[in-house]
Amino acid sequence: MSNIEAHADLHFENLFTAVLVFDQDLRLCRMNTAAENLLITSFRKIAGQTTVEIFAASPGFMENLERIITTRNPLTERGVEMSLPGNRTITVDCVFTPVNDADKKPEIIVEIIDTHAISRLMKEESLTVLHDAARESLRGMAHEIKNPLGGLRGAAQLLERELDNIELKEYTQIIIREADRLGKLIDRMLTPNGKLHTERVNIHEILEYVQNLLEAESDKTLHIERDYDPSLPDLQADSEQLIQAIFNVFRNAVQAIPVDGHIWINTRIKRMCTIRQQLHKLVVVIEIMDDGPGVPREIESCLFYPMVTGRAEGTGLGLSIAQSLIQAHRGQIEYERSDNHTIFRILLPIEYYHERA
Ligand SMILES: Nc1ncnc2c1ncn2[C@@H]1O[C@H](COP(=O)(O)OP(=O)(O)OP(=O)(O)O)[C@@H](O)[C@H]1O
Ligand SMILES: [Mg+2]
Repeated sequence: MSNIEAHADLHFENLFTAVLVFDQDLRLCRMNTAAENLLITSFRKIAGQTTVEIFAASPGFMENLERIITTRNPLTERGVEMSLPGNRTITVDCVFTPVNDADKKPEIIVEIIDTHAISRLMKEESLTVLHDAARESLRGMAHEIKNPLGGLRGAAQLLERELDNIELKEYTQIIIREADRLGKLIDRMLTPNGKLHTERVNIHEILEYVQNLLEAESDKTLHIERDYDPSLPDLQADSEQLIQAIFNVFRNAVQAIPVDGHIWINTRIKRMCTIRQQLHKLVVVIEIMDDGPGVPREIESCLFYPMVTGRAEGTGLGLSIAQSLIQAHRGQIEYERSDNHTIFRILLPIEYYHERA
């Protein structure tokens, strides 16, 4: 392969748009990584299959393909329904381009633009901006409270020393205890400090460590099923921060499940994945799934905001902190409710760590 061809190949592979190329017999002869991600399959598995085999469950697609085979004219179609594995249907925009050769039937290039994914990215981005703003103002407020709180606690201690009446000391003790409780809350609001102390970490060791912590803490017997991808590379990351983030997400699942509930953890690699408008070649995906009742509807849209809680005794800081810690690693935490399961998905890009390793 020449240098120019190799370059063109690289560009084809790195396109955000899913592209499939069909030969004159309408058999798949090429597809890029974005198409593999969209169709949840690999080129090796479906190479040589016909358009009918690949798009049989998507009649809108077949109609458009038949039309361009007869007319030999390019066609752009918006809002085409497309069936995906796992009974999922998405609406996409498509461009069908015949590559005409006068004597033969045309080859066909199909470009598929997942508009839903694009609008999801834009929504995610604006939510992230709001989340960052909310966390910043909370940090500012926490700073403002921290100093006078220290003063209050110190004054209560001085007062206590001067008191002769032991019964009155009960009140100063209340002031000190409550100041300490508020102080801990303020410290949680102030983390993280943004600085990463990176080292080589094995994500499975971190997951096991967090599970041990939670097993020791919880009075429920935890039924946890693990499905780890053993081929995951080590990450160059801040292990303390990853532990904290995963612990916060995991603990919510433990708190949400009934006594005989289940938690599933799986890890895998995703190629060509966009996080916060940035395309990453390799991303580690950690899914923490439980069969509890799910996040209350009324807080779903602002789940990652600070101080948003659905639990009487919750502070609503856990997920907000976890999101900030993962975003400091250029990753993202996503929430999904599917088939009566609650899924929190932690995405961590890999090449970032290599850049700084
Ligand atoms: N796995 C889950 N299943 C059901 N609800 C969840 C789950 N994870 C989070 N939630 C909901 O999201 C809310 C916010 O979670 P978050 O961890 O931010 O705060 P919290 O758990 O209420 O308090 P904190 O973590 O600060 O002690 C929770 O109160 C709960 O209602
Ligand atoms: Mg929590």
